[in-house]
Amino acid sequence: MNSNHLFSVEKLRLSFGGLTAVDNVGFQVEKGIIFSIIGPNGAGKTTIFNCISGLYKPDAGNILFKGENMVGLKPHQIARKGIARTFQNIELFSRMTTMENLMLGRHIHMGAGVWSGATFFRRGSKAAREEIEHRERVERIIDLLDLQAARNQFVGGLPYGTQKLVELGRALALEPELLLLDEPSAGMNSEEKQDLVFWIKDIQDELEMTVLLIEHDMKMIMDISDRILAINFGKPITEGLPKAVQSHPEVLKAYLGEDEPFDKSA
Ligand SMILES: Nc1ncnc2c1ncn2[C@@H]1O[C@H](COP(=O)(O)OP(=O)(O)O)[C@@H](O)[C@H]1O
Ligand SMILES: [Mg+2]
Repeated sequence: MNSNHLFSVEKLRLSFGGLTAVDNVGFQVEKGIIFSIIGPNGAGKTTIFNCISGLYKPDAGNILFKGENMVGLKPHQIARKGIARTFQNIELFSRMTTMENLMLGRHIHMGAGVWSGATFFRRGSKAAREEIEHRERVERIIDLLDLQAARNQFVGGLPYGTQKLVELGRALALEPELLLLDEPSAGMNSEEKQDLVFWIKDIQDELEMTVLLIEHDMKMIMDISDRILAINFGKPITEGLPKAVQSHPEVLKAYLGEDEPFDKSA
């Protein structure tokens, strides 16, 4: 494996009954980049993420993270290796606050003391120090994503765009090396989308994370991606720099009928 490649997928395949949702997909992701996967609805994008995060086991292929094959590992094992994700449909604890949801995101880093001791441990104990450190790290994420106003609010009552940010925050709380974002801007207004672009770039620059992004908003994709893989009907069409992918005839054809997907004024 090329040492620049933090992550790669080789000949990935998964069928549901007669439908091959992911068909011989492969790509390589260099450390520190934002790598996007595009394709029309039903192309197989989320299914690729579900294979990477261990929710689905592929029929064939390899998923290599730092040289180690992730295929066959359980979702929590993959998270521990340093891969975190958000979902296309929000998956948060709606009756818990933003802070509590983010603290849950840190559970893989917590010792048994923090987990079982809750608020009862002695001041100055190892568990108490750990708890403080976890809280500080979560506070940093709350600052980074400008979530102070939502800090102590139940997540279920927050606007949709804010809930999406909390979900991003929870994934960040895992401190992953590879962050998978499945349509993070869905349901956001244009102002929220602009903020999201800045935050994802911050995550790339300041937290030095590598980002795998599925996104429907083509303006955002073109603004933010270092490289893009286009797929359709589960199959790769092309992979490369944004401009080249955008003007690829098969990509344009795949998006025929959609409302000006590449309209930059949108
Ligand atoms: N658990 C599943 N069972 C059956 N079919 C599925 C399942 N998950 C996804 N599919 C099908 O696989 C195809 C790809 O879906 P998906 O990966 O969600 O597409 P995308 O995220 O690109 O919109 C679709 O036809 C979808 O209906
Ligand atoms: Mg999807």
